Amino acid sequence: MIDLSVRIKNLKFETPFLNASGVWCTTENEIDEILKSEAGGVVFKTMTLEKRVGNPEPRLYVTDDFSINSMGLPNLGVDYYCQIASKLKKYQKPLIASFAGFKEKEFYILAEKIDNTDFDGLEVNLSCPNLEGKGIFAYDLDLSFKILKNLKKITKKVIGVKLPPYNDRETIKKIAEKFLQLKIDFVTLINSYPLGAFIDTKNERLVIKPNQGIGGLGGRVLKPISLAQVILFHKFSQGKIDIIGVGGVETGDDVYQYILAGAKLVGVGTRLLKGPKIFSNLKKQLEKIFREKKINKIEDKLGQLKDY
Ligand code: DHB
Repeated sequence: MIDLSVRIKNLKFETPFLNASGVWCTTENEIDEILKSEAGGVVFKTMTLEKRVGNPEPRLYVTDDFSINSMGLPNLGVDYYCQIASKLKKYQKPLIASFAGFKEKEFYILAEKIDNTDFDGLEVNLSCPNLEGKGIFAYDLDLSFKILKNLKKITKKVIGVKLPPYNDRETIKKIAEKFLQLKIDFVTLINSYPLGAFIDTKNERLVIKPNQGIGGLGGRVLKPISLAQVILFHKFSQGKIDIIGVGGVETGDDVYQYILAGAKLVGVGTRLLKGPKIFSNLKKQLEKIFREKKINKIEDKLGQLKDY
């Protein structure tokens, strides 16, 4: 019998597939569709204190190989998501709230609101690349660690952090060691590569409008970058912090690679733009790989890369 279920602390996911926050998770209808699919749970669109319309269009460009976005955090506001969480509880799948503040203090207000609801877990988004005039919190390690330490005092719910890619092993090691100390339950690796651009040669202009036409890079090209982050984080955290692998997940084979790298679950971003049907395909394809390799459960292969 193949069992694709996994746990992060007390939360049980019947399959290891999630949406990557941002895709197909802004309205109640979209979230409902994810919960009706073969996804094991749902991560909501990153919520802010106030509702936001986001950046001007065109703000998303998609090809088979990559996507570039500068959405600018369009979302319906924390109060809306807290309210619909209680309705969506009926699916009995983990509901994860992704949230981001513009200032340090806003993270605490948001966490207090979310803590008082039917959300099962929190994903702290320290890696949004698209806020004009703002840096990425996660590139300021001291501030990030301070925020997380305080959030741990505010909520007892399962708590994870969405990180951007880093360019050196030392930083990943430092973060993994600090997260062990802080008792962070999971990390989501990774958000989009922050600086992506593509030029439409016919019109001689960039394909998106906001932020000088430069936005977060996602999709297939992100997978090698993301796999390296997962492998290193898994190693430096001694496999003690659960990882959600995100970046270029399209097939069961991609999912299997993330499992070998050390990710217990995966999030689907760019490919989910075509709709939640992808989750049943991923399930069939991963089950086929497990059958052929005579694997019963994900934990048996988690981080089990072979040496040369
Ligand atoms: C947006 C993009 C991100 O990559 C993210 O983590 C949060 C928000 C956005 O532009 O909406």
